[in-house]
Amino acid sequence: MPINVFVPKFRTDEILEEIKECLEKGWTGLGFKTVEFENHWKQYTGMPNAHFLSSNTAGLHLALNIFKEQNKWADGDEVISTPLTFISTNHAIVYERLTPVFADVDEYLCLDPKSVLKAITPKTRALIFVGIGGNSGQYEEIVKICKEHNIKLILDAAHMAGTKLNGKHIGSDADVVVYSFQAVKNLPSADSGMICFADQQLDNLARKKSWLGISKDTYQRFNKNEGSYKWKYDVESIGFKYHGNSIMASMGLVQLKYLDEDNTYRRKLASLYDKKLENIKNIQIIKVAPNCESSRHLYQICVPNRDEVMQFFYDNGIYPGVHYIDNTEYTVYNYAYGKCPNASLKSKMLLSLPLHLNLTENDLNLIVSTLEKALKNCVKPNESLISDFSK
Ligand SMILES: Cc1ncc(COP(=O)(O)O)c(C=O)c1O
Repeated sequence: MPINVFVPKFRTDEILEEIKECLEKGWTGLGFKTVEFENHWKQYTGMPNAHFLSSNTAGLHLALNIFKEQNKWADGDEVISTPLTFISTNHAIVYERLTPVFADVDEYLCLDPKSVLKAITPKTRALIFVGIGGNSGQYEEIVKICKEHNIKLILDAAHMAGTKLNGKHIGSDADVVVYSFQAVKNLPSADSGMICFADQQLDNLARKKSWLGISKDTYQRFNKNEGSYKWKYDVESIGFKYHGNSIMASMGLVQLKYLDEDNTYRRKLASLYDKKLENIKNIQIIKVAPNCESSRHLYQICVPNRDEVMQFFYDNGIYPGVHYIDNTEYTVYNYAYGKCPNASLKSKMLLSLPLHLNLTENDLNLIVSTLEKALKNCVKPNESLISDFSK
């Protein structure tokens, strides 16, 4: 059996029951289940607002669209971002004709506050912080910097469903937090996400904008006590078709019940990896920041000769991942190539070991022994990576 980096675990019967309710009611779109999921998510995270969307990518775009419009930012204004992320993060900035300005990452692979300070200019309007793998990195420092410089803080929490910082779900101090419930995330649906604005007025606006700018969604028009379906609405702004639907919300509602239990198992696997890898020379384990209880979406290490090590794994039926290629290596962002040396270096060495709910300790033993063999086969004895890492 191949061992893959991600395998989602669905509670099939329970999910089918929830979906059946939607089908029998004849309501699969935005409506009763999306509202129920939003309420459960607010309760779980402690966020004051939550709006269910079709994806995190949609949410990041919506956040920037709303902030730009509300604060009258100009085309070309700047948003500080990380090169070590899935491209959605940076594409969302470009969708709004804003400019991604890349700052470098720290030992947690998150934005480095020192590098962020250097990237601030009079045109800086926002910063997107990615909690990579569920790690909070130096998030609290970033919050301070954003407050001091009047920069909107967008938390791309695609990996952070369930991450706690100082005992509390992360995100309450950001201007907006955007989650992903994409197919292989910690809370998997098929494709969906959640946007949580701190400001309720912006949440109201997001609800209209995610439904093409229409003043009242179909469910609001249908669900009034007055009885029948009301056909009349206004279109107050140019919006997008970004809202979530009741089938995805049904999946989310069930998966949310198990999120803490699932993340606990992920953390157990991660600490087993920590123990089994601690005496292996020539690798670096990416540590979780102090006071962070990570959702453990990823378990990342750095290895020398990554591509060859990866091939060795593949040849042995094990399929790790890479999170991520430095985005400035991609044609569309290569105007910034070389500006973030740490991200660039790590991107060549990073490897995400398999981490999912079907893995057993025996699987981990096999993965670790395969890694040892790969290092023996692919890395010359005098080849080392650690020295590059103290930067
Ligand atoms: C860091 C990060 N940001 C954003 C996204 C986009 O999420 P979605 O697929 O829900 O649009 C992902 C998804 O992989 C991600 O990993």
